Amino acid sequence: MTSQRRNHWDNVYTTKPADTVSWFQDDPTPSLNMIAQTGVGTGDPIIDIGGGASVLIDRLLDRGHSAVTVLDIAEAGLAVAKQRLGARAGRVTWIAQDVTAWQPPKDAFSIWHDRAVFHFLVEEADRVAYVRALDQGVRTGGFVILATFTLSGPERCSGLPVRRCSAELLQAELGPRYRLIEQRLQTHVTPSGNHQDFIWCLFKKTPTSAAAEP
Ligand SMILES: C[S@@+](CC[C@H](N)C(=O)[O-])C[C@H]1O[C@@H](n2cnc3c(N)ncnc32)[C@H](O)[C@@H]1O
Repeated sequence: MTSQRRNHWDNVYTTKPADTVSWFQDDPTPSLNMIAQTGVGTGDPIIDIGGGASVLIDRLLDRGHSAVTVLDIAEAGLAVAKQRLGARAGRVTWIAQDVTAWQPPKDAFSIWHDRAVFHFLVEEADRVAYVRALDQGVRTGGFVILATFTLSGPERCSGLPVRRCSAELLQAELGPRYRLIEQRLQTHVTPSGNHQDFIWCLFKKTPTSAAAEP
């Protein structure tokens, strides 16, 4: 499955200019606002899962974030971001990996950010593997930002089926250790002018003992 997925996404990034794909946004304000809301410091480690060619990494560096990682299955997507960043690319940790097969360092991240990746995991086994990686990588007290197509959003993206989510569905995937802090609806306007409804959720990873609390 991984190689099929990798081929799909590498092909996207090698055949389409990054600013023409439906998920392109030149202003990642929804992500930046939620990241700011966590209150984490600029030295705290942040990972952008499935960041691809997103300009979020540029904006994080602009704001002084110094411990930033971008993971993506598509080497070609990361290559676009690296080329755009030039010398600044050296300040980023780049990981070319399928997140569902990844073993992150334990408790490595204060923020796990994912815009428009989790909804491609239409098989339960992939979602379970994703959450296992997330749970290993996010430290207690850390935050998870998930942005997916919501129930009124598109049923497909990039020619692939997606699983649309609500905050309740995302909560059920993550389990009780992850406390929902905030949910927001947002409409993304694609470069061709289509509207796509997203749900943005911010979760905080609680200590094991807090999971039983109401
Ligand atoms: C719709 S794009 C979103 C890109 C970026 N997050 C953004 O907001 O611009 C989905 C991204 O997820 C990556 N991706 C898809 N499946 C993945 C997986 N299993 N593991 C890691 N990355 C994946 C793709 O290569 C692509 O860059």
